[in-house]
Amino acid sequence: MRTKIVAGNWKMNNNLSETNTLIESLKSQGNLGSTRVIVAPSYVHLAQAVSLTSDSSIEVAAQNMHEAKSGAFTGEVSPAMLSSIGIETVILGHSERRAYYGENDATLAKKVDNALDHDMDVIFCFGEELEDRKSENHFEVVKSQISNALFHLKASAWAKIILAYEPVWAIGTGETASPDQAQEMHAFIRNLIQDQYDASLADEVSILYGGSVKPGNAQEIFSKQDVDGGLIGGAALNAADFTTIIKSI
Ligand code: 13P
Repeated sequence: MRTKIVAGNWKMNNNLSETNTLIESLKSQGNLGSTRVIVAPSYVHLAQAVSLTSDSSIEVAAQNMHEAKSGAFTGEVSPAMLSSIGIETVILGHSERRAYYGENDATLAKKVDNALDHDMDVIFCFGEELEDRKSENHFEVVKSQISNALFHLKASAWAKIILAYEPVWAIGTGETASPDQAQEMHAFIRNLIQDQYDASLADEVSILYGGSVKPGNAQEIFSKQDVDGGLIGGAALNAADFTTIIKSI
């Protein structure tokens, strides 16, 4: 059985006290069920978030990390730094990192390797731009993003990989992929993995959908066979909304 996961990517939002309040109100929402719940605050609040969630099942992830192990990279954060404060999961390849900070498949392949070397779980994001979908190139784009950054991995490494399909045109726009569009892409991705590895590995990989998931549409999207949860942006900044989304699984 694939793990169901709902992760909140808080992006560059919330100061320290807002971070504390959001975590405390998430904890006060009661039993979140068997779904794996992950929140990703900013780097500077990660240690505090780890401490605040230590008495709950909520996990804390980083939103990014550097591809090198250490060295002269001013302003960057290494996986060893993250591990040392109890972070076991990292989001890599978010479209905002690709678009604004020039992250490409080659860099991301290195980041993935570095995270895995530190025994971290990776939430690997990818997804097409609007033009790609309009020109019906979306499957090719997604195929190349996944194969270039992940298909060098040994089969055993995939136990640490969570995929997150986030069509760029649906992020923060209020426009979501339809449940059928999400299912179609998720099934395509699972087939890709099956072709490269095998059916049982493909069947075990959790594939999340991200892009304007809200309390009102989560259930329909999550009901699709190959959608194993969500990576949530804006709606993850409100504890009640995030909880409703979690409970929609
Ligand atoms: P929104 O849910 O705000 O569209 O953001 C999705 C996202 O980018 C999560 O990583």
